[in-house]
Amino acid sequence: MVESTVVDEASRLHVLTALAAGADILPEDPDGAAFRRRFDLHFPELCRLFHDLYGSRPDWLEQLTALLLQAARSWTERPPELKALDAEREHNSGWFQSERMLGGVCYVDRYAADLDGVRARLPYFKELGLSYLHLMPLFLAPEPLSDGGYAVSSYRKVNPKLGTMEQLRALAAELRANGISLVVDFIFNHTSNEHEWARKAAAGDADYSDYYWIYPDRKMPDAFEEDVREIFPDDHPGSFVELADGRWVWATFHTFQWDLNYANPEVFRAMAGEMLFLANQGVEILRMDAVAFIWKQLGTPCENLPEAHTLLQAFNAVCRLAAPSVLFKSEAIVHPDEVAQYIDPAECQLSYNPLQMALIWEAMATREVSLLAQALERRHNIPAGTSWVNYVRSHDDIGWTFADEDAAELGINGYDHRRFLNSFYVNRFPGSFARGVPFQDNPRTGDCRISGTTASLLGLEDGSSQAVARILLAHSVAFSTGGIPLLYLGDEVGQLNDYQYALEEGHGADSRWVHRPHFPAERYARRHRPSTPEGAVFAGLRKMVSVRASAPELAGTRLVEFSTNNAGVLGYQRPGAGTQILALANFSDGPQTISAATLSGFAADAVDLLAGSKVRLDEGIVLGPHGFVWLRVRAAP
Ligand code: GLC
Ligand code: GLC
Repeated sequence: MVESTVVDEASRLHVLTALAAGADILPEDPDGAAFRRRFDLHFPELCRLFHDLYGSRPDWLEQLTALLLQAARSWTERPPELKALDAEREHNSGWFQSERMLGGVCYVDRYAADLDGVRARLPYFKELGLSYLHLMPLFLAPEPLSDGGYAVSSYRKVNPKLGTMEQLRALAAELRANGISLVVDFIFNHTSNEHEWARKAAAGDADYSDYYWIYPDRKMPDAFEEDVREIFPDDHPGSFVELADGRWVWATFHTFQWDLNYANPEVFRAMAGEMLFLANQGVEILRMDAVAFIWKQLGTPCENLPEAHTLLQAFNAVCRLAAPSVLFKSEAIVHPDEVAQYIDPAECQLSYNPLQMALIWEAMATREVSLLAQALERRHNIPAGTSWVNYVRSHDDIGWTFADEDAAELGINGYDHRRFLNSFYVNRFPGSFARGVPFQDNPRTGDCRISGTTASLLGLEDGSSQAVARILLAHSVAFSTGGIPLLYLGDEVGQLNDYQYALEEGHGADSRWVHRPHFPAERYARRHRPSTPEGAVFAGLRKMVSVRASAPELAGTRLVEFSTNNAGVLGYQRPGAGTQILALANFSDGPQTISAATLSGFAADAVDLLAGSKVRLDEGIVLGPHGFVWLRVRAAP
């Protein structure tokens, strides 16, 4: 093994020489100088990462040099307005920590028919207060089976049903002009089987066969499958599917989603090219899909391997060079210890918070907050320069990803508790208000997850009188614990399950479509009528958005625990300068009191921000069933 600084220096010179030779690629002007400055800053790290991944190959330095030339070219082609954004964000790197951040997510076709339709909804997005819009996969994809677009046939073509790349670029610019960052998926673990690379691989092309994990017979697949978990067992057992010519290809998800082989540096370079292409269209945040699965190694579960992090850091370093304002959001729906590993300014600055999401549902079912409180205390705070994306539900299933070790400390058996939660959410448990549907029920392993919209899972479909209160309570947590709140658009008007999903071509076998309804036009039309459930949900959420936007204590992610001495009431503090916010949230079915003694660490006079009134803490606080407050408090004198 060569000394790494020696590697750095030699390779730096090698790459610099190549860059100098490509004067047409990187001109001698201020833009070129900006790239060279970032090169000096980030090259050593990128070189180290690339060498860790590919250093054992004789061509690693040639590959790295080609990657750098590609990055330089992409920077040169980056539109001036995005370079201006890069410069602005360099001076305001904490922009995404603002209390004004609010995310929304939707499918283009289901929510707005096409990209023009999304554009037409801009006035509504502003009414809602969005500053972040995640449009789910909108690329060319197979028909009718595309996993909702998560099987990509070309990263450079918009699905013609939705529009064109020019329209996406224009939309990104218009959103940006209105203070909304465009978020798009970077589905880099796999391509569809119709991607050009996949077609060539299937036709037997040796170079492209190396883009995927393809084996001539079952020997290696059998060996890998000893240790790898099944993700979509309803679709196919194990992780491999057979090709027409008898070979086997790795497909973690559906048979038509083939995992890319990042052990091959060509794949890294090719995907870095697709990533920078998207960045140059004006995408500000890339949702890094399925990060846990991107590196495979025989004899391991092939999830969350150290190289998965090295890869993400290398992709991140490429962005720092050629599209420096772009951020990554990690989609790791795995054990909370593993989720945390992806969160780092040099890896993914943002991450979904699947633990908080799952435990909001857990607390709703049990009417107790011990697991959620423990998670906030133990697992919420993350490194400076990073942020959670907090959500109540997404387009995917709800999986019970809490740590069994954490649960055991509270006397809870993880396996039994998951069984209880699954039966509760499919309405097979006494006292359930939920109308959920099982997802990937696997009798062999006992694994099962839950599908359903927020409103259907929280009792609106069931006719529960507490449904609206529960919907607001769930969102109050996502809106105030710290991080960017992310709404599944339509949930702000209480959209219900769509049982027609099975009639749509290609959706019948995937129950997640039950919670991906079309734009609920009638519900939106009633959003300003507070006497309707949709009006009540909308008004409650709008209130939270506006209070949050004017409460600097709610910026960033830092949270301080607060014990309410009440099993049904969650408490946490969000420290600000001088004042702080104390949030209290009652998950029980009855009223609850937090005593004056419990609150005695704070000055007696406080402000209830959502009600807009003064309160006295020396009288204790009474919360109605599923009630919550955000109190602006000061420390006791
Ligand atoms: C992610 C997506 C999910 C998709 C999977 C495969 O988990 O959120 O919808 O099925 O990746 O791309
Ligand atoms: C994700 C998760 C899995 C989830 C699926 C999408 O990557 O690992 O639990 O169910 O993909 O539904």
